[in-house]
Amino acid sequence: MAFRMTAPLSQSGLPILRTKRVILREWRDSDLTPFAAMNADQAVMEHFPAPLRALESDALVERIRAHFAKHHFGLWAIEIPNVTPFAGFCGLAVPQFEAKFTPCVEIGWRLASEYWGRGYATEAARAVLAYAFDTVGLDEVVSFTAAQNARSINVMSKIGMQRNTEDDFNHPLLPKDHRISKHVLYRISRNAHRSTHHIGR
Ligand SMILES: CC(C)(COP(=O)(O)OP(=O)(O)OC[C@H]1O[C@@H](n2cnc3c(N)ncnc32)[C@H](O)[C@@H]1OP(=O)(O)O)[C@@H](O)C(=O)NCCC(=O)NCCS
Repeated sequence: MAFRMTAPLSQSGLPILRTKRVILREWRDSDLTPFAAMNADQAVMEHFPAPLRALESDALVERIRAHFAKHHFGLWAIEIPNVTPFAGFCGLAVPQFEAKFTPCVEIGWRLASEYWGRGYATEAARAVLAYAFDTVGLDEVVSFTAAQNARSINVMSKIGMQRNTEDDFNHPLLPKDHRISKHVLYRISRNAHRSTHHIGR
């Protein structure tokens, strides 16, 4: 049986996750401007079809908020106290497309490039994974990205996720010859997470 860990809740009843250096919290309207700036950054969006326009970025926040309302988990806004009120997001999402591995819950992350290379994404992802298994009670979490997205794949490996090349797939929402069509899928089961991360908790 899963060990149920509770997380503190925001005023609107959504969970808040804390690590040594980061807070994963509900989105604020003041996040929209820095979020639009990072979604317009070519470096951040290198492994996506295209950078987002401000309206597309705002619409993404609306979808993230709706996802929280529906599932009670989602892509949390990342705050780094004493560094920045908003650095990006990390969290859980239910993919809306159909593939061999859906339905599933994925873990994902996106940080503004000035906050890369400091371990924040991995630190946030570890807290999200613990929440996924201990509180949500999921049996498995997946993550996927364009095959050339080495930084994201590095995070997946560091948090204990594993790739089976048989799970590699062409993203169903992209043409097969698109530069980022080829995706890799990483998985971690609750048992694997418990045996590698939870001994003694
Ligand atoms: C994917 C992404 C979140 C990864 O960010 P990142 O900063 O490279 O990831 P990490 O948090 O693991 O930090 C990486 C490095 O910080 C360094 N670091 C510095 N201080 C550290 C600390 N205190 N603790 C841990 N690592 C630290 C480490 O050397 C680590 O590199 P290593 O694993 O090679 O040793 C970021 O590149 C991004 O937002 N990309 C664009 C969006 C994207 O592609 N998202 C994924 C789509 S599926």
